[in-house]
Amino acid sequence: MRRIYFDNNATTPMLPEVRAAMEPYFAEHFGNASSIHHHGQETRFAVEKARDSLAKLLGCRASEIVFTSGGTEGDNLGIFGVVQAGDHVITSTIEHHAVLFSCQRLQEIGVAVSYIPVNGQGLVDPEDVKRALRPNTKLISVMMANNETGVLQPLEEIGKIAAEADVYFHTDAVQAAGKVPIEVNRIGCDLLSISGHKMHAPQGVGATYVKKGTQLQPMLYGGRHERQRRAGTENVAGIVGLGKAAEIALHAFERGDDLKMATMRDQLQIALLSAAEASGVNGAAAPRVPNTANIYFDSIEGEALVIALDLKGLAVSTGAACSSGATEPSHVLTTMGLSPERARASIRFSLGKQNTEEEIDFAICAVPQTVARLRDLSPLWKKKLLATSC
Ligand SMILES: Cc1ncc(COP(=O)(O)O)c(C=O)c1O
Repeated sequence: MRRIYFDNNATTPMLPEVRAAMEPYFAEHFGNASSIHHHGQETRFAVEKARDSLAKLLGCRASEIVFTSGGTEGDNLGIFGVVQAGDHVITSTIEHHAVLFSCQRLQEIGVAVSYIPVNGQGLVDPEDVKRALRPNTKLISVMMANNETGVLQPLEEIGKIAAEADVYFHTDAVQAAGKVPIEVNRIGCDLLSISGHKMHAPQGVGATYVKKGTQLQPMLYGGRHERQRRAGTENVAGIVGLGKAAEIALHAFERGDDLKMATMRDQLQIALLSAAEASGVNGAAAPRVPNTANIYFDSIEGEALVIALDLKGLAVSTGAACSSGATEPSHVLTTMGLSPERARASIRFSLGKQNTEEEIDFAICAVPQTVARLRDLSPLWKKKLLATSC
């Protein structure tokens, strides 16, 4: 069966160029990047080249890049690295669990946390962030792009608030990196985390920007790797892959590929909304990354739609991959004001560099058919039809 993958916010397939760049580091270039002999020098060179590529992607100095195992570690480092008991932290209600659960842990160890809600479009109001500031606020952590809706937060305004208050600002940019251009100086952040597998590099590698001068407490103790900010022998092949993916992303921005992807996503969105009644895009009026459309189809069980589409060869998702199988509706969608029913009836389509127009056409045909079939079986839908016909 032909398989179409529209779940790129869960993970992306590695690009062939990324794989090719990594391959020698599984074989002939096996040295430990900390060794001073030839083998170590070879891999050290590769790691530093990748660091340069990441610095170009984020608009920072190479020395400000810390390689990690991915987004979760980066978020933990950005939070636990600067906060201690007695501090106050401001975050939002729509963060990924890598941030939310870290904040819950902070509360257990004597840190106060303010959770800023979002409006109906999934946007944080910077004024709410400003109002939440306290004399002991140490950190603001607000994500750049939401993983479920793709909504981009007003980070530059939040960055200014953080700078004026002299508070550290961390952003989880895992779903933004490689999709929209990022310039850390424009954002005004001190810490920014990204993950390889969300941008066509391998799983298990990531990077965190740590602004020069940030007093960062490492989370892992051991060797003096990464300028003592993250101990542990570097994952050379993964880092090389991430560096290659960063170079590819930069060239893609120069070519305007992000705009092309937004056009494809919009085509999909418009066609699905016109073919399936009682549907809509969550966060439609907010700025969004170009690859994501989160769409509700009222009276449908999202999980049932995901399974039915999978049987047709189309992979989509009900939201965060790590919450699959959970019966709770998405915390992101409910905090935006969606009813639990509508949140459960929402599906995330997330495109990647490998997707084609032809695949969009397949989805435009398959999704409305499947929605109609599921609605025929839905007592909720029948009730709604009866109500509107009376
Ligand atoms: C917004 C966001 N932050 C953090 C993460 C965690 O990243 P990783 O899977 O690299 O640990 C994810 C993964 O889904 C994410 O979407």
